[in-house]
Amino acid sequence: MTINTYEFRKGIYMISVNDLRTRLFESLWDIPEGIAYNAYLIIDERTVLIDGVKGIYSEVLIGEVKKLLGGRGLDYYVVHHGEPDHSGSFPKLIKEYPNVKVITTEVGFKIIRSLYPVSFNHITVSDGYELIIGNRKLKFFQTPWLHWPDTFMTYLYGDKILFSGDAFGSYGALTNGLWDKDYGDLHLSLSKRYFANIVAAFRSHVPKAINKLSGYEIDLIAPAHGPLVGKVSDAVNTYLRWSKPELERKVLIIYGSMYGNLEEAVKHVAKGVEEVDVDAVVMKVPDTPITYLVRELFDSPAIVLGIPTYDGSAFPYISLVLNLMKIKRFEGRYVGIVSSGLWSAVAESKVMKDLDEVKATVDGKVSILGHPKGDDITKLVDLGRSLGRRAAEVVSKQ
Ligand SMILES: Cc1cc2nc3c(=O)[nH]c(=O)nc-3n(C[C@H](O)[C@H](O)[C@H](O)COP(=O)(O)O)c2cc1C
Ligand SMILES: [Fe+2]
Ligand SMILES: [Fe+2]
Repeated sequence: MTINTYEFRKGIYMISVNDLRTRLFESLWDIPEGIAYNAYLIIDERTVLIDGVKGIYSEVLIGEVKKLLGGRGLDYYVVHHGEPDHSGSFPKLIKEYPNVKVITTEVGFKIIRSLYPVSFNHITVSDGYELIIGNRKLKFFQTPWLHWPDTFMTYLYGDKILFSGDAFGSYGALTNGLWDKDYGDLHLSLSKRYFANIVAAFRSHVPKAINKLSGYEIDLIAPAHGPLVGKVSDAVNTYLRWSKPELERKVLIIYGSMYGNLEEAVKHVAKGVEEVDVDAVVMKVPDTPITYLVRELFDSPAIVLGIPTYDGSAFPYISLVLNLMKIKRFEGRYVGIVSSGLWSAVAESKVMKDLDEVKATVDGKVSILGHPKGDDITKLVDLGRSLGRRAAEVVSKQ
């Protein structure tokens, strides 16, 4: 754990805790780059803390807040969203500052009460509620479903800062600076994977939130994860593109293979994809962590699933992939199926219902008995070409 405390505007502090020990964020997503939990403190005639950190880092946050307040009390504590990666420090903060007024949405209040059985003073904010804290004024915008129903954001007039909670956040501990520009293209890549994993299922709510904020000038975005965002219009436009989502010219091939036969088959598919000048991204399950699978599923117009039959069913990790497509609402993609078996090959029939549920268009199926041979090879290359052309067509029409 390391901590960065940074006064990025006079009297406005970022308190960012680097978590390099959590392997799976939300117990699902691999984060080899770590993650930062950002809280913000505004010191004016009134003092305001915005968000918090994961429970295990409570003392570190409280230590910094106390130092910065220099003996003053804390008047307001804005809880943008109840997920414990930020609200974990809530009970200890309340214990330290029992008179603080907690600011949440109505749904947020219920969530916080369900998670933390402590009593506290509370203000429920409606959409557009304003709060004067001395020379400064805050305005609260409800932005539900980015990515929980409780979510809201805080706009600070004058300094023109949007405290955005999880939105506009990214993976990665802040070890190289505290601004987006300190990370170059890496910031875009870590934000996109974070968006695909955390926000994508609710992407239809992104334009609604951006629309609501459109009348307000924003100089910088202060998210709850990752660096401060100085390139505001780039970030907003990127979020709008991702919310569609913007699909890339590639075919994603996800396969399972116990003994290498199906692995060999999908190599022929990849060859077919590349023959029509489209990129083939090949990922094996379960070897590839789902954070990367979901990242690629998010923007692939065409997907090939390589599925061995396993104990009278589809290879279980492919069922997980289909479930993730359902959960994240990755719908309307072209899908090719390469299935295999030896005595009663049922993998293909077992996945059809799932594909239907994600509104996939099945664009070719090849079934193989054991090792790919003879005609199989031509069929596999053809499947790759066909999906490659589909991907190119989708992207050209976008
Ligand atoms: C543990 C295990 C269970 C299997 N269960 C079935 C099955 O229920 N029905 C079937 O037709 N084939 C079954 N197979 C055969 C595989 O689907 C077949 O060998 C396939 O080609 C595997 O490809 P791979 O070499 O890439 O793992 C099974 C294979 C293994 C290793
Ligand atoms: Fe969250
Ligand atoms: Fe978060």
